[in-house]
Amino acid sequence: MSKSISRQQFLKYTASAGAAVLLTSLEGFAAERPGKKMRVAIIGCGSVSNRYIPHLQSSKLIEIVSLCDIKYERATAQNEQYKVGAATYADIDAMLAGVPFDMMVTLTDMQLHGALNKKALQAGKHVWSEKPMANTYAEGKALYDLAKSKGLRIWGAPAVVNSPQFAFMNECIQKGKLGKLATAHGQYGHTGPTWSAFFYEAGGGSMPDLGVYNMATLTGLLGPAKALMAMTSIVKPERKVDDKGTIKAVAEDNAHVLMEHANGVISHVMCGFNYFDPHGHEAGNQTLHSIQIYGDQGNMRMIGYDWETNGVVLDNQWDKPPVLMSTDKGGYEWQEGATKVGESLINQIEPRINAEHALHVLEIIEAARQSSATGMKVKLQSKFPWPMV
Ligand SMILES: NC(=O)c1ccc[n+]([C@@H]2O[C@H](COP(=O)([O-])OP(=O)(O)OC[C@H]3O[C@@H](n4cnc5c(N)ncnc54)[C@H](O)[C@@H]3O)[C@@H](O)[C@H]2O)c1
Repeated sequence: MSKSISRQQFLKYTASAGAAVLLTSLEGFAAERPGKKMRVAIIGCGSVSNRYIPHLQSSKLIEIVSLCDIKYERATAQNEQYKVGAATYADIDAMLAGVPFDMMVTLTDMQLHGALNKKALQAGKHVWSEKPMANTYAEGKALYDLAKSKGLRIWGAPAVVNSPQFAFMNECIQKGKLGKLATAHGQYGHTGPTWSAFFYEAGGGSMPDLGVYNMATLTGLLGPAKALMAMTSIVKPERKVDDKGTIKAVAEDNAHVLMEHANGVISHVMCGFNYFDPHGHEAGNQTLHSIQIYGDQGNMRMIGYDWETNGVVLDNQWDKPPVLMSTDKGGYEWQEGATKVGESLINQIEPRINAEHALHVLEIIEAARQSSATGMKVKLQSKFPWPMV
């Protein structure tokens, strides 16, 4: 059993200013707008908005009041396709000055998240951001501090810690079912997005787009990483994408990251845009054991990907075969983050998704780029409340 306090204990007992602000900001919304729905504005009406819009619409506590895209026709097309009935805008300033809302959901090119999220916070809005929350850890931390100073909240994708399979694996680890933990592995790859150039431009890459899921899962289960070493490369120097034609890839499309956790535990994440995977974004039938965790008395293998998983194989008996456990998805969907944090603001319940965790993962990505460039091990500074369940 870990000596760290549980999340519930953290929230119940801690007297730290940070926790007080967290709870106050949740209470703030409910007090200001009792009985009202959370008004959400979405910025970025591209590919992933097709998953976010219906999920947000499925919540009785949330209404989408604004849609914004610099390609304005995308905002109006999504408004029509999903019968949103929202106001539509071509830029963030017009949206912030337009129909009032409570939380911005940021679904634009990754490189713009930091600047857009800052504008929203400065205008007094809560923020849910697709990954990453910002381009650098320093930029992300400044946003986190800004939010705190204004009694607001910011959160960043992914939502992998919400899955029942994450909770199951966490429980096995915390109850010592694997014995003394030693090592873990995570992997996620496909052949790369074909629609937008930003995935391959500076600030993009397979780590913030794909590896981020495994990094969130492994640090969420094993605790913060203290240091890392990484190697990244560009396997395909040229890519053909819908918005810009043939482009030169600047960001890595192939990465291996070795992380050092407490008590000698080492984990490894591999990700890339050159992985053959016929399941692509529909991972429901994926049978790969993409997350593996080993101790001296047992191991666990998560089936499918951590963002859409079909269960966990637990192997901790010398004389019995491995058992498939935790097959119930429990309603978890990878695109649920904005809905869950929006509902948490209404219900005043601290969500499991944690901004400091997202910041830690951002620091990992930045440090991995640095380690690969310099050939050196890089120490990490950030931490987050752990265990997470
Ligand atoms: N596509 C997916 O399946 C998927 C899944 C999970 C997470 N994500 C994440 O979601 C984000 C968006 O990815 P995507 O695939 O939807 O990209 P996309 O290119 O399809 O959509 C991005 C949209 O943002 C708009 N945009 C760019 N700058 C803007 C600005 N300043 N103001 C308003 N709109 C602006 C673009 O015009 C575009 O319509 C990325 O962070 C990505 O990592 C995507």
